[in-house]
Amino acid sequence: MPDQPPPVYLDNAATSFPKPAAVAETMARLLDTTALSPGRAAHRYSLAAGRVIFAARETLAALFGCRDSSRIVFTNNVTTSLNIGLQGLLRPGDHVITTGMEHNSVMRPLRLLERLRGIRLSFLPTAATGEVDVDALPRLLASDTRLIVVNHLSNVTGSLVDLATLARFKGDALLMVDAAQSAGSEAIDVTAQGIDFLAFTGHKSLFGPTGTGGFYLRPGIVLPPLVVGGTGSNSEHEVQPDFAPDAYEAGTPNTLGIAGLAAGVAFVRETGLAAIRRHEETLTTRLLDGLGQIPGLTVYGPGPGPHRGPVVSIRLAGISVSDLAFALDRDHGILGRGGLHCAPAAHRSIATYPEGTLRLSLGYFNTEAEIDSCLAALDRVRSRC
Ligand SMILES: Cc1ncc(COP(=O)(O)O)c(C=O)c1O
Repeated sequence: MPDQPPPVYLDNAATSFPKPAAVAETMARLLDTTALSPGRAAHRYSLAAGRVIFAARETLAALFGCRDSSRIVFTNNVTTSLNIGLQGLLRPGDHVITTGMEHNSVMRPLRLLERLRGIRLSFLPTAATGEVDVDALPRLLASDTRLIVVNHLSNVTGSLVDLATLARFKGDALLMVDAAQSAGSEAIDVTAQGIDFLAFTGHKSLFGPTGTGGFYLRPGIVLPPLVVGGTGSNSEHEVQPDFAPDAYEAGTPNTLGIAGLAAGVAFVRETGLAAIRRHEETLTTRLLDGLGQIPGLTVYGPGPGPHRGPVVSIRLAGISVSDLAFALDRDHGILGRGGLHCAPAAHRSIATYPEGTLRLSLGYFNTEAEIDSCLAALDRVRSRC
């Protein structure tokens, strides 16, 4: 049997692959050389594990323009972070402004709190491209608006939300950003951009392993924890410490994963966000230009340029989204993702609900040759439709 070419991985919005070599190297070395329970004992292994976590916090704080790394809290993923933020901040009857492009990790907690606490939701208008009209914010703000929560970079269309405008008009409301797709790919500065709560996941463009993530919490915000327990600090008290990050980090942390995440973030900082962005934009433009040449193919999302990220949603006439995803994988080794991408609201906004789209999501390690293989494969599938 002839050698198959290696698969072309275009599902980086789900999780990035491959990871920089330093991620696995760091994790393997730590696992082999030290125990990983930080902040509990005074012996050398525990202290070393504490230093691993502290260094990771500092690296993430530097990436996000946060001056005090104790405001960076580690969790298992962005979903946990968003739940801590939404369930902790929202009080009965609060008004929340969000968008029609949210992932279910925002939408489901909001719908839950709508039912349990009677919160009131308003939605910023969304164009058919998935672009959110942030200029409508002043019209939606009310005296009881507690929170504005937005998906920074759409995991369906790649559209970016203009955070500067939201921060400018938000008044007393808090700004929460779901940076699942943008952290490690877009420049984020929580201080300069007026972000009150930034939720990130470790395993996408930050190149960490799955099971890592966290959030930034602006100093001065009172946020009750969702999970309480042992922290290794204030152990004489039966009540949870009230200071960050300990208040939100009950239980032994994923030290190994956090070490891998720090290695991924170090790679991002060494490579430079500008270089990462430039490469991803070059690839995205090449893909969008090529898709535009394929008859019967529809692209959902903004055109090429700096106002979008490397996530592209398409449909091809004459074949279902799931059959297209299957044919691309089985016959051509192109690994995209078909369906709703956990964001039914976004598909309603761009009129692709309930079937969804085929999503091609690019990452720093993709190449122009891979984009060309994907385009050739799509053209071959089309010719058989
Ligand atoms: C915009 C957005 N928010 C939230 C999530 C949830 O990420 P995680 O599963 O890492 O919590 C994702 C990932 O799929 C996403 O794309």
